[in-house]
Amino acid sequence: MRQAGRYLPEYRELRARALSFLEFCYSPQLAVEATLQPIRRFGFDAAILFSDILVVPDALGQKVAFESGEGPRLDPVADAQALARLGDEPNWNRLSPVFETLDRLKPALPRDVALIGFCGAPFTVASYMVAGRGTPDQGPARLLAYREPKLFAALIDRLVEASAEYLARQIAAGAEAVQIFDSWAGVLPPPEFARWCVTPIAALVAKLRAKAPHAPVIVFPRGAGTQLTQFAGLPEVAAIGLDTATDPRAAAVALPDRVALQGNLDPLALVAGGAALDEAIARVLSGFDGRAHIFNLGHGVLPQTPVAHVEQLMKRVRA
Ligand code: CP3
Repeated sequence: MRQAGRYLPEYRELRARALSFLEFCYSPQLAVEATLQPIRRFGFDAAILFSDILVVPDALGQKVAFESGEGPRLDPVADAQALARLGDEPNWNRLSPVFETLDRLKPALPRDVALIGFCGAPFTVASYMVAGRGTPDQGPARLLAYREPKLFAALIDRLVEASAEYLARQIAAGAEAVQIFDSWAGVLPPPEFARWCVTPIAALVAKLRAKAPHAPVIVFPRGAGTQLTQFAGLPEVAAIGLDTATDPRAAAVALPDRVALQGNLDPLALVAGGAALDEAIARVLSGFDGRAHIFNLGHGVLPQTPVAHVEQLMKRVRA
């Protein structure tokens, strides 16, 4: 997650060449390079496409911009008129540079490095579309879901359709696995968690399966906590990404053996380095012992992370 981020000097240099972050995402040449940088430097087992979850609202016709240092800004979709102004499906021409990026990455990556495509989960993407930005609890989207459930459901349905087709096209272009990021799932109380996180993801994955039967699907329901069990009944999900606060043992109990577990080193331990990092790595490795496990962070690499600490991590995990 966010492996290509701002902690790498070569990333910052590349970023400075693009006029805007979206233009960066839509430039196959720059996006290929940003995807490859961490692979070259650290030799990870998998590369994640360089893009962003908010290219989907952009391709649906919503105005999306990234203000430097402030995160994303969108023209909020808060009523039926705004929803009606969006396309029924994404403008696939707008997204074609993403597919071209994947296509070019395939031959550029070492053969044993897996290429992961991704999208945001319907709820997380909708929460940015409604609020127009990130907020501490994505309150605006949750309020709309309470006040106008039909309208919110229509937005979610549109994102389910768009995202299933988007991931299928990523797989057709060369992605070998896909990850669905529900970064804001944790703000939802139980009934809403089932309705806006689990059900739309299940629908998305079912639709994707009909189009692309084989590529493994990883779901990252950040903050799911005890509600992780709700993913136990989704046989089409190959792996679940776990956030930092999840106890590996609890996850192993909540999810059946056929589900691989991905995670969940604290990104702050990676910033801290030293003995604290070594201990945190050892805890992750022993915590998932006996399970199919993909070592990862519990969330993105923080921009202030020293490169040397990532090298320390690679040595430890590979040892
Ligand atoms: O590892 C990678 O870099 C892969 C590409 C990737 C990005 N965003 C690039 C990016 C991926 C997989 C994402 C996912 C994403 N984007 C999520 C889900 C995962 C998560 O982190 O929870 C979300 C919620 C977004 C939306 C988004 N994009 C936000 C909230 C921000 C601002 C973040 C911040 O800390 O300021 C972005 C911008 C963004 N996306 C950057 C990168 C490398 C930083 C942009 C820059 O270089 O200025």
